[in-house]
Amino acid sequence: MIGDKILIFEKIDSTNEYLKKHYKELNNGTVIVAIEQTAGKGRYGRKWISSKGGLWFSILLKPKNIFSTYFFTKLASFTLVKILKRYKVYARIKWPNDIFVNGKKLAGILTEVVYEKSKPVALIIGIGINLNNQIPDELKSIAISLKDILNKNVQISGFLKLFLKRFNTYYLKYRKAPYALTRQWKKLLTFKEGDLIKFKNANYTIEKIENDYIIISNEIEKKKIFSISELEGDVKSEN
Ligand code: BTN
Repeated sequence: MIGDKILIFEKIDSTNEYLKKHYKELNNGTVIVAIEQTAGKGRYGRKWISSKGGLWFSILLKPKNIFSTYFFTKLASFTLVKILKRYKVYARIKWPNDIFVNGKKLAGILTEVVYEKSKPVALIIGIGINLNNQIPDELKSIAISLKDILNKNVQISGFLKLFLKRFNTYYLKYRKAPYALTRQWKKLLTFKEGDLIKFKNANYTIEKIENDYIIISNEIEKKKIFSISELEGDVKSEN
């Protein structure tokens, strides 16, 4: 089961990088936790600040066939939103998989695949959650911690335990029905299919939200958007 073995490190570069180096000798479902990461990574090679107090961890999976990284990333974001509800925090997923509360980022997910001779052999799901860590001043307008939302510290081990339990449950529930997960995931997005957006000063409707692109259209044209940064700040209907 995922989380049967959990290795905790006081300080390492990145829990994803650790698994990339050690996946061969570790079992499916092993979880690596870092109290602090010195070189935490986000998507697109961005730096992920990982000071003490946050929950920084990665899950190693070695499924028989690695069918979709998107499935696991969605599973992680879906699980996070569900758990946060238990804390009475109503989070949403900002496409593709950032966890947002009150317009600020609370958590992010970085799923990576390990290849051997161009064959995928392992999946690493890296999850970073601002739990009790101090958000640096320069990021306070875009990021938030659970502690700041709740006005109290959250027990890190308790949160991780709950996450892993739910993640396991949802994995068993949705692995045979990935489309059902996608449907649930879409309901939790900050902007949805059918929403109106402003893009480069023109109005568009979001026609389709896929794993790795969004299609927007109006009477004049149809466009494919490949990253949130193309839309950033322009989406009208955040909820
Ligand atoms: C993102 O939003 O861009 C993804 C952030 C993922 C951060 C986590 S923290 C644990 C794991 N180790 C890393 O170096 N990155 C992920």
